[in-house]
Amino acid sequence: MRAIVAHTENQPARLTEKDEPEPGAGDVLIDVSYSSVNFKDAMALTGAGIVRRWPVTLGIDVVGTVAESSSNRFAVGDRVTLNGAGAGETIDGGYAERARVSSQSLVHIPEEISLSRAAAIGTAGFTAAIAVLALADHGVVPNSGDVLVTGAAGGVGSVAINLLARRGYRVVASTGRAAEQGVFLTALGASEVVDRAQFSEPINRPLQSEQWGGAVDSIGSHTLANVLAQTRYGGTVVSNGMAQGIDLPVTVLPFILRGITLHGANSVDAPRELRERAWAMLADELDLNALDALTTTIGLDDTFEAADAILKGHVRGRTVVQIS
Ligand SMILES: NC(=O)c1ccc[n+]([C@@H]2O[C@H](COP(=O)([O-])OP(=O)(O)OC[C@H]3O[C@@H](n4cnc5c(N)ncnc54)[C@H](OP(=O)(O)O)[C@@H]3O)[C@@H](O)[C@H]2O)c1
Repeated sequence: MRAIVAHTENQPARLTEKDEPEPGAGDVLIDVSYSSVNFKDAMALTGAGIVRRWPVTLGIDVVGTVAESSSNRFAVGDRVTLNGAGAGETIDGGYAERARVSSQSLVHIPEEISLSRAAAIGTAGFTAAIAVLALADHGVVPNSGDVLVTGAAGGVGSVAINLLARRGYRVVASTGRAAEQGVFLTALGASEVVDRAQFSEPINRPLQSEQWGGAVDSIGSHTLANVLAQTRYGGTVVSNGMAQGIDLPVTVLPFILRGITLHGANSVDAPRELRERAWAMLADELDLNALDALTTTIGLDDTFEAADAILKGHVRGRTVVQIS
């Protein structure tokens, strides 16, 4: 079968022919219809980290139909998706015509969502859903104040904006592409679009004026430090990414003087209950027409070019890869 495989550490992956998955690799065999290109896939495709076993088929999202199953949770023909759980890192992922995976983290795709839309949601949309659920679980409600979404035009950011706006939050979108993507972000549900430059420099004061009832941050580093320093008393910030960096140059003052919470979102190791809760929420609440508007579909051959564009920050929203 055709597959994109990383063969060697620190080397770009290659589109190649490979054998069908080994039976021992998991209890469910999937005919893969779609995968997607996330920031993490882009890094793996170019050989910039992520992969922890070689050779491995890349693609952290697997979307398709069950072809064989020895799990009592899944039957032949079921529509399923796997997001993370080691796919494309330590186990073979979705950039191949078939994938054999463990049923442990596999979920049924809700019937409202087509296979291609499930891939458009992918890890990025799933992570956005986890983040929005976390804000609500921590008591951030629509009248808690504005919610900031950083990396707004990216995959996690764009889905998060739509989910938050549909729940009634007033969403402020932070982007480096306000002129180019402002209309798009407003159409997704952002009430205001701001320039990300205001968050990207080292914090000048450990406590700044209180602006955000909550935030979903894909950026890390100085951006997250500034967001924490501007979060209102009792607010929650969800950290899910590191587009600016993995460091966090912040003080304890926002925590001990404003009682704020920093919540980490991890899609890779999310337990099955959280996966099912997030997918149910996506089916109920995401505007699927808006999802279509933020999605571009490509073939396996175009995946490398898409990876370069993501790493350069040129991609808007989500990129689906049609596998078969
Ligand atoms: N925790 C998890 O489980 C999990 C899951 C998915 C993703 N992630 C992480 O979350 C982040 C976003 O993922 P994604 O798939 O949404 O990626 P993406 O589609 O590439 O979006 C990232 C966005 O971040 C902004 N950005 C890029 N470089 C930046 C910089 N140097 N400074 C400030 N902003 C910058 C850009 O938004 P604008 O153009 O709008 O400024 C870009 O579109 C990545 O770090 C990814 O690894 C984590």
